[in-house]
Amino acid sequence: MTKRVRLGVNIDHVATLRNARGGDHPDPVRAARIAREAGADQITAHLREDRRHVRDDDMARLKEEIALPLNFEMAATAEMIAIARRIAPHSVCLVPERREERTTEGGLDVIANRVQVAEAVAALTEAGIRVALFVEPDLAQLDAARAVGAPVVELHTGRYCDLNGGAREAELRRLAAAARHAAAIGLAVHAGHGLGFDTVGPVVALPEVEEVSIGHFMIGEAIFLGLGTVIREMRRRIDNACAGL
Ligand code: PXP
Repeated sequence: MTKRVRLGVNIDHVATLRNARGGDHPDPVRAARIAREAGADQITAHLREDRRHVRDDDMARLKEEIALPLNFEMAATAEMIAIARRIAPHSVCLVPERREERTTEGGLDVIANRVQVAEAVAALTEAGIRVALFVEPDLAQLDAARAVGAPVVELHTGRYCDLNGGAREAELRRLAAAARHAAAIGLAVHAGHGLGFDTVGPVVALPEVEEVSIGHFMIGEAIFLGLGTVIREMRRRIDNACAGL
Protein backbone atom coordinates (compact mmCIF):
# COMPACT_ATOMS: atom_id res chain seq x y z
CA MET A 1 0.00 0.00 0.00
CA THR A 2 1.26 3.50 -0.83
CA LYS A 3 1.04 6.01 1.98
CA ARG A 4 -0.26 9.49 1.25
CA VAL A 5 1.40 12.31 3.20
CA ARG A 6 -0.75 15.41 3.64
CA LEU A 7 0.65 18.66 2.27
CA GLY A 8 0.06 21.80 4.32
CA VAL A 9 0.77 24.97 2.37
CA ASN A 10 1.96 27.98 4.34
CA ILE A 11 0.88 31.22 2.64
CA ASP A 12 2.62 33.68 5.04
CA HIS A 13 4.96 35.07 2.43
CA VAL A 14 2.21 36.04 0.05
CA ALA A 15 1.22 38.38 2.86
CA THR A 16 4.86 39.47 3.29
CA LEU A 17 4.82 40.65 -0.32
CA ARG A 18 1.42 42.30 0.05
CA ASN A 19 2.56 44.17 3.15
CA ALA A 20 5.60 45.55 1.30
CA ARG A 21 3.17 47.91 -0.50
CA GLY A 22 0.53 48.15 2.20
CA GLY A 23 -2.39 47.38 -0.11
CA ASP A 24 -4.45 44.26 -0.83
CA HIS A 25 -2.35 42.60 -3.53
CA PRO A 26 -1.25 39.82 -3.56
CA ASP A 27 -4.01 38.41 -1.36
CA PRO A 28 -2.98 35.37 0.74
CA VAL A 29 -6.57 34.10 0.69
CA ARG A 30 -6.47 33.98 -3.11
CA ALA A 31 -3.21 32.04 -2.82
CA ALA A 32 -4.93 29.61 -0.44
CA ARG A 33 -7.69 29.09 -3.01
CA ILE A 34 -5.08 28.24 -5.66
CA ALA A 35 -3.33 25.93 -3.17
CA ARG A 36 -6.61 24.08 -2.67
CA GLU A 37 -7.20 23.74 -6.40
CA ALA A 38 -3.62 22.47 -6.78
CA GLY A 39 -4.12 19.70 -4.23
CA ALA A 40 -3.07 21.15 -0.87
CA ASP A 41 -4.61 19.28 2.05
CA GLN A 42 -4.37 22.14 4.48
CA ILE A 43 -3.60 25.84 4.69
CA THR A 44 -1.14 27.06 7.30
CA ALA A 45 -0.53 30.61 8.47
CA HIS A 46 1.56 31.99 11.32
CA LEU A 47 0.00 34.95 13.10
CA ARG A 48 3.02 36.55 14.72
CA GLU A 49 2.89 38.96 17.61
CA ASP A 50 4.19 41.74 15.32
CA ARG A 51 1.76 40.79 12.45
CA ARG A 52 4.65 41.01 10.01
CA HIS A 53 2.88 38.83 7.43
CA VAL A 54 -0.65 37.50 7.96
CA ARG A 55 -3.00 39.61 10.07
CA ASP A 56 -6.01 38.80 12.18
CA ASP A 57 -8.44 39.49 9.32
CA ASP A 58 -6.46 37.11 7.05
CA MET A 59 -6.88 34.32 9.59
CA ALA A 60 -10.62 34.97 9.83
CA ARG A 61 -11.00 35.03 6.03
CA LEU A 62 -8.94 31.86 5.60
CA LYS A 63 -11.26 30.11 8.04
CA GLU A 64 -14.39 31.48 6.43
CA GLU A 65 -13.58 31.30 2.73
CA ILE A 66 -11.28 28.31 2.26
CA ALA A 67 -12.79 24.85 2.38
CA LEU A 68 -9.68 23.18 3.76
CA PRO A 69 -8.50 22.57 7.31
CA LEU A 70 -6.79 25.68 8.65
CA ASN A 71 -3.60 25.19 10.67
CA PHE A 72 -2.78 28.17 12.86
CA GLU A 73 0.91 28.52 13.80
CA MET A 74 1.33 30.64 16.90
CA ALA A 75 3.19 31.26 20.13
CA ALA A 76 1.66 29.93 23.35
CA THR A 77 0.59 33.37 24.58
CA ALA A 78 -2.72 34.41 26.13
CA GLU A 79 -3.41 36.76 23.20
CA MET A 80 -2.92 34.03 20.58
CA ILE A 81 -4.84 31.41 22.54
CA ALA A 82 -7.82 33.78 22.72
CA ILE A 83 -7.66 34.45 18.97
CA ALA A 84 -7.37 30.74 18.17
CA ARG A 85 -10.34 29.91 20.37
CA ARG A 86 -12.37 32.58 18.58
CA ILE A 87 -11.39 31.60 15.02
CA ALA A 88 -11.50 27.86 15.80
CA PRO A 89 -9.05 26.52 13.21
CA HIS A 90 -8.81 22.77 12.66
CA SER A 91 -5.39 22.72 14.31
CA VAL A 92 -2.78 24.84 16.05
CA CYS A 93 0.96 24.32 15.89
CA LEU A 94 2.67 25.93 18.86
CA VAL A 95 6.01 27.49 18.00
CA PRO A 96 8.58 29.52 19.91
CA GLU A 97 8.63 33.14 18.82
CA ARG A 98 11.17 35.88 19.24
CA ARG A 99 10.51 39.32 17.87
CA GLU A 100 13.97 39.74 16.34
CA GLU A 101 14.09 36.40 14.51
CA ARG A 102 13.55 36.20 10.73
CA THR A 103 11.68 32.93 10.96
CA THR A 104 11.00 30.28 13.61
CA GLU A 105 14.58 29.51 14.53
CA GLY A 106 14.40 26.49 16.77
CA GLY A 107 11.88 24.08 18.18
CA LEU A 108 9.74 24.78 21.19
CA ASP A 109 11.54 24.03 24.46
CA VAL A 110 8.70 22.02 25.96
CA ILE A 111 10.86 20.89 28.89
CA ALA A 112 11.72 24.42 30.02
CA ASN A 113 8.19 25.77 29.39
CA ARG A 114 6.25 22.74 30.54
CA VAL A 115 3.59 24.60 32.55
CA GLN A 116 2.88 27.28 29.95
CA VAL A 117 2.73 24.73 27.13
CA ALA A 118 0.51 22.35 29.12
CA GLU A 119 -1.94 25.19 29.84
CA ALA A 120 -2.00 26.20 26.17
CA VAL A 121 -2.56 22.60 25.04
CA ALA A 122 -5.42 22.25 27.52
CA ALA A 123 -7.10 25.55 26.54
CA LEU A 124 -6.91 24.76 22.82
CA THR A 125 -7.91 21.11 23.17
CA GLU A 126 -10.91 22.15 25.23
CA ALA A 127 -11.98 24.34 22.29
CA GLY A 128 -11.86 21.31 19.97
CA ILE A 129 -8.55 22.27 18.31
CA ARG A 130 -5.93 19.59 17.53
CA VAL A 131 -2.62 20.78 18.94
CA ALA A 132 0.83 20.08 17.54
CA LEU A 133 4.11 21.13 19.15
CA PHE A 134 6.95 22.19 16.86
CA VAL A 135 10.03 20.51 18.30
CA GLU A 136 13.60 19.60 17.47
CA PRO A 137 14.15 15.88 16.77
CA ASP A 138 15.16 15.37 20.40
CA LEU A 139 13.77 12.41 22.33
CA ALA A 140 13.49 14.24 25.65
CA GLN A 141 11.44 17.01 23.99
CA LEU A 142 9.16 14.36 22.51
CA ASP A 143 8.62 12.78 25.91
CA ALA A 144 7.79 16.22 27.29
CA ALA A 145 5.35 16.83 24.41
CA ARG A 146 3.58 13.61 25.33
CA ALA A 147 3.57 14.54 29.00
CA VAL A 148 1.87 17.90 28.41
CA GLY A 149 -0.92 16.18 26.49
CA ALA A 150 -0.22 17.19 22.89
CA PRO A 151 -1.48 14.61 20.36
CA VAL A 152 0.91 15.70 17.57
CA VAL A 153 4.51 16.85 17.12
CA GLU A 154 5.88 18.65 14.10
CA LEU A 155 9.56 17.77 13.75
CA HIS A 156 11.79 20.72 12.82
CA THR A 157 13.49 19.93 9.51
CA GLY A 158 15.31 23.26 9.21
CA ARG A 159 18.70 21.93 10.24
CA TYR A 160 18.37 18.94 7.90
CA CYS A 161 17.64 21.33 5.02
CA ASP A 162 20.52 23.68 5.87
CA LEU A 163 23.19 20.97 6.09
CA ASN A 164 24.91 19.11 3.27
CA GLY A 165 26.51 15.74 2.64
CA GLY A 166 27.28 13.53 5.61
CA ALA A 167 26.01 16.08 8.11
CA ARG A 168 22.63 16.13 6.36
CA GLU A 169 22.57 12.31 6.39
CA ALA A 170 23.26 12.34 10.12
CA GLU A 171 20.44 14.84 10.72
CA LEU A 172 18.07 12.67 8.68
CA ARG A 173 18.97 9.72 10.93
CA ARG A 174 18.15 11.94 13.93
CA LEU A 175 14.78 12.83 12.37
CA ALA A 176 14.12 9.14 11.67
CA ALA A 177 14.89 8.15 15.27
CA ALA A 178 12.70 10.98 16.56
CA ALA A 179 9.81 10.00 14.30
CA ARG A 180 10.07 6.38 15.48
CA HIS A 181 10.15 7.40 19.13
CA ALA A 182 7.27 9.84 18.75
CA ALA A 183 5.06 7.21 17.14
CA ALA A 184 6.08 4.64 19.76
CA ILE A 185 4.86 6.89 22.59
CA GLY A 186 1.59 7.63 20.78
CA LEU A 187 2.26 10.93 19.04
CA ALA A 188 1.22 11.67 15.46
CA VAL A 189 4.24 12.91 13.48
CA HIS A 190 4.34 15.91 11.17
CA ALA A 191 7.44 17.63 9.76
CA GLY A 192 8.33 21.03 8.40
CA HIS A 193 10.58 24.05 7.96
CA GLY A 194 12.90 24.79 5.07
CA LEU A 195 11.67 21.95 2.87
CA GLY A 196 12.02 22.26 -0.91
CA PHE A 197 11.99 20.04 -3.98
CA ASP A 198 15.39 18.54 -3.10
CA THR A 199 14.77 17.86 0.58
CA VAL A 200 11.13 16.80 0.85
CA GLY A 201 11.58 13.23 -0.44
CA PRO A 202 13.61 11.64 2.36
CA VAL A 203 11.43 13.33 5.00
CA VAL A 204 8.08 12.10 3.65
CA ALA A 205 9.64 8.66 3.18
CA LEU A 206 10.06 8.32 6.95
CA PRO A 207 7.29 5.82 7.71
CA GLU A 208 5.80 7.75 10.65
CA VAL A 209 5.51 11.14 8.92
CA GLU A 210 1.86 11.86 8.10
CA GLU A 211 2.00 15.53 7.12
CA VAL A 212 4.46 18.20 5.97
CA SER A 213 4.13 21.97 6.20
CA ILE A 214 5.89 23.96 3.47
CA GLY A 215 5.86 27.67 2.74
CA HIS A 216 8.86 29.80 1.83
CA PHE A 217 10.30 27.59 -0.91
CA MET A 218 7.00 27.17 -2.72
CA ILE A 219 6.07 30.84 -2.59
CA GLY A 220 9.56 31.75 -3.84
CA GLU A 221 9.58 29.10 -6.55
CA ALA A 222 6.17 30.30 -7.74
CA ILE A 223 7.93 33.44 -8.98
CA PHE A 224 10.10 31.42 -11.32
CA LEU A 225 7.39 29.04 -12.47
CA GLY A 226 4.80 31.81 -12.90
CA LEU A 227 6.66 34.99 -13.89
CA GLY A 228 6.83 34.18 -17.60
CA THR A 229 3.04 33.67 -17.76
CA VAL A 230 2.36 37.00 -16.06
CA ILE A 231 4.75 38.91 -18.31
CA ARG A 232 3.19 37.36 -21.43
CA GLU A 233 -0.27 38.39 -20.17
CA MET A 234 0.90 41.97 -19.54
CA ARG A 235 2.43 42.11 -23.03
CA ARG A 236 -0.87 40.91 -24.49
CA ARG A 237 -2.89 43.54 -22.62
CA ILE A 238 -0.54 46.34 -23.64
CA ASP A 239 -0.75 45.24 -27.27
CA ASN A 240 -4.56 44.91 -27.13
CA ALA A 241 -4.92 48.37 -25.62
CA CYS A 242 -2.77 49.82 -28.39
CA ALA A 243 -4.33 47.90 -31.29
CA GLY A 244 -5.36 50.30 -34.06
CA LEU A 245 -3.79 53.38 -32.44
N1 PXP B 1 6.47 24.64 10.30
C1 PXP B 1 6.60 25.63 11.22
C2 PXP B 1 6.29 25.33 12.62
C3 PXP B 1 7.03 26.92 10.83
O1 PXP B 1 7.18 27.88 11.76
C4 PXP B 1 7.26 27.18 9.47
C5 PXP B 1 7.64 28.55 9.05
O2 PXP B 1 6.55 29.41 9.25
C6 PXP B 1 7.08 26.12 8.56
C7 PXP B 1 6.71 24.86 9.01
C8 PXP B 1 7.29 26.31 7.10
O3 PXP B 1 8.63 26.58 6.86
P1 PXP B 1 9.09 27.11 5.44
O4 PXP B 1 8.39 28.41 5.22
O5 PXP B 1 10.55 27.23 5.57
O6 PXP B 1 8.65 26.07 4.44
